[in-house]
Amino acid sequence: MHSVRKVTEDLYWVGGNDRRLALFENIHPIPRGVSYNSYLLLDEKTVLFDTVDWSVCRQLLENVTFLLNGRPLDYVVVNHMEPDHGASLEEILLRYPNVKIISSEKAILFMRQFGFTIDGKTEQVKEGDTFAFGKHEVTFIAAPMVHWPEVLVTYDKTNGVLFSADAFGAFGALGGQLFNDEMNFDRDWLDEARRYYTNIVGKYGPQVQALLKKAAGLDIKMICPLHGPVWRTDLGYFLDKYDKWSRYEPEEKGVLIVYGSMYGNTESAANALAAMLVEKGIKNVAVYDVSNTHVSYLISETFRYSHVVLASVTYNLGIYPPMHNYLMDMKALNMQNRTFAIIENGSWACKSGTLMRDFLENQLKKMTVLDEKVTLNSSLKEENISDLEALADSIVESVQAKQ
Ligand code: FEO
Repeated sequence: MHSVRKVTEDLYWVGGNDRRLALFENIHPIPRGVSYNSYLLLDEKTVLFDTVDWSVCRQLLENVTFLLNGRPLDYVVVNHMEPDHGASLEEILLRYPNVKIISSEKAILFMRQFGFTIDGKTEQVKEGDTFAFGKHEVTFIAAPMVHWPEVLVTYDKTNGVLFSADAFGAFGALGGQLFNDEMNFDRDWLDEARRYYTNIVGKYGPQVQALLKKAAGLDIKMICPLHGPVWRTDLGYFLDKYDKWSRYEPEEKGVLIVYGSMYGNTESAANALAAMLVEKGIKNVAVYDVSNTHVSYLISETFRYSHVVLASVTYNLGIYPPMHNYLMDMKALNMQNRTFAIIENGSWACKSGTLMRDFLENQLKKMTVLDEKVTLNSSLKEENISDLEALADSIVESVQAKQ
């Protein structure tokens, strides 16, 4: 059965929601599911903007069939060829053999790489090209590496709708609400939007900045991303989040404490530090166990907070492997511009603090590591409390000094 939403007078959301998939890209947990957004324009020509993941292809087809109501499908604009959007293109070509694909040179190359039969069916476009579908005229803007190199975003000059590809997307299935003003975004969506951005596009901050600069020259009335809510009010709120995230600026002054603990002793020190920080006036503190928190959540929180405490045991004379994995993910995602504090633990040959400092200072960019450090031999004891207090004071001073 079809399930569509009207977006403007002649534009419809025709995507689908997947609440069965456990791991997005087979990596990132999505306990609230994900939406694959696709949009159908009914002008003098009929135009589908991107398709959907194979898992919701049937829903897309039912939606498109219902709205076309016997009309042919004239065009499909492919802004992004990653299979969570491009996989259903082949089925669209089979159902609508006369449809023309409008896309970038690289996306057309990717269609061939994925094995699609597209000879004679493509119209290649590049930045600045325009296309008229009747009342609506669109222009294409290159957005390379947001999130793949072939990405275009499409701007409808007639009504100010921006089809933004992965940009401005979010994890989470849509629960009937489509528009940002139909939901409590801050309460129900922001965390998953941040986790989506930081883990999927986070590496490409400079490229997102380039897209934001191009977007600033457009009169955008509505943002239609490929995942999550459509933005039609308060666009500045979300643009500001994207601006911060892509400049690697923290959203909030606060302290994220991530600990790696085998038997609870390092955990105990992390909890003691958290309580000290709150007592000293830093109320915005979050504590996570690196071993049972998926790293995508840790990355998202790292983008959020200004300060990060790493508390790690020493393991095989190295950094505790889950902590090392977190650091490697920070590196992969180009994480930068944060202040760190370190707690290390080891029953013999305690090395994790030195190794974590070296990683932060030499493998990541623009990271500050506070001089104070707490070294534990097996467990936190009275003799360590003054060091822990000194570390807490140093963190408080740094948080309060940050603009
Ligand atoms: Fe939602 Fe880069 O695909």
